[in-house]
Amino acid sequence: MDYNIKDIGLAEQGKKQIEWAEMHMPALINVRQELSQRKSLKGIRISAVLHVTKETAALVRTLKEAGAEIALAGSNPLSTQDDVAAALVKYDGIKVFAWKGENDTEYYNNMTEILKYEPNIIMDDGGDLHALIHEKYSNLNIIGGTEETTTGVIRLKAMEENKVIKYPVIAVNNAFTKYLFDNRIGTGQSAIDGIIRSTNILIAGKVAVVVGYGWVGRGIALRMRGMGARVIVVEASPLRALEAVMDGFDVMPMSKAAELGEIFVTATGNINVISKEHIQKMKNGAVLANAGHFNVEIDVKGLKEIAKSVRNIRPFLDEYTLPNGNKVYLLADGRLVNLAAAEGHPSEVMDLSFSNQALSVEYLINNQGKLEKKVYNVPQEIDEKVAFLKLKGMGIEIETMTEEQKDYMKQWKYGT
Ligand code: ADE
Repeated sequence: MDYNIKDIGLAEQGKKQIEWAEMHMPALINVRQELSQRKSLKGIRISAVLHVTKETAALVRTLKEAGAEIALAGSNPLSTQDDVAAALVKYDGIKVFAWKGENDTEYYNNMTEILKYEPNIIMDDGGDLHALIHEKYSNLNIIGGTEETTTGVIRLKAMEENKVIKYPVIAVNNAFTKYLFDNRIGTGQSAIDGIIRSTNILIAGKVAVVVGYGWVGRGIALRMRGMGARVIVVEASPLRALEAVMDGFDVMPMSKAAELGEIFVTATGNINVISKEHIQKMKNGAVLANAGHFNVEIDVKGLKEIAKSVRNIRPFLDEYTLPNGNKVYLLADGRLVNLAAAEGHPSEVMDLSFSNQALSVEYLINNQGKLEKKVYNVPQEIDEKVAFLKLKGMGIEIETMTEEQKDYMKQWKYGT
């Protein structure tokens, strides 16, 4: 069978969700019209590992209209929206292998399924598909790939460094119109959305500890503050820590923040940034959430080892009783809270990321054979075009430089 999803009967509901997303994705719809006129992906087979959301549906429907055939698996065991998966299968003929609540084996099996269609283009979010191909399916004839997120780009750069990378990959994450909006504004809102949906606690007046001050951490800290939290930032890079201080946040090591925080959110891409030793120092009632790609940032295994008991309170909220009697509350089992306990970033933000994705795939096809086996940034023309289309979709006009101004910017002799 060309798909494996939870329930095809959810398709009608999924279709309405996709329509709702597309209504808020004007830039992508514009890209769709262009690509479908050019039919620039005609005959191309794409295998994609992306969070199966209504926004991803808008992207794959765009790729399909441009002529591609698509097989899709989820990028996290908990992030698939089952109604959307059903609609993609039933109404769009997309080969979807994903459902919410996959175990790790099913997650990898689904990835293997989508490689059976012998893709020419690989799209990934987190690098698991790129890694799987490099480890086990290096016989595939791949023109190139894209990568959606910071974690995936870091893994691909390591592959490039080790000289094992087998095809060119465009780091969509590194486009200005991606990280500045998706990572910062998107996660800023959706991580808090996940925390609120799973706990319904008040943010105002709480001490929120944001671990990591990259684009994601910056966004979460900013939005936490906007909702009235008193925010502490934990950061290992002196540059970023300094920025956090100057942005007005308290900055300290985790060993100190552990004793003060009431809500903890990790966004580092690194392992065990909240350890079981930290957890044992926490206040009774502390809430622990992860907004990084993988479930490695909070030492969930360690927490399970030390806990005297565990019980589920409500969806995506588990209570752990510690040896000292305190209780801590882990959201979504330490998996990325915005996609597991909420719906990921809003469509308006994914509009930017996925316009970059679609145009990057077209770029790979148009430049087939000309690119080296390495990680490329999104070409600046694409980045600027996405910003232009988004502004247009928002009905915002911007300034135009006069000829005199353009000329001035090219001179070096004019000074004081
Ligand atoms: N990553 C974060 N939010 C997302 C969304 N809504 N759809 C797909 N990928 C995402």
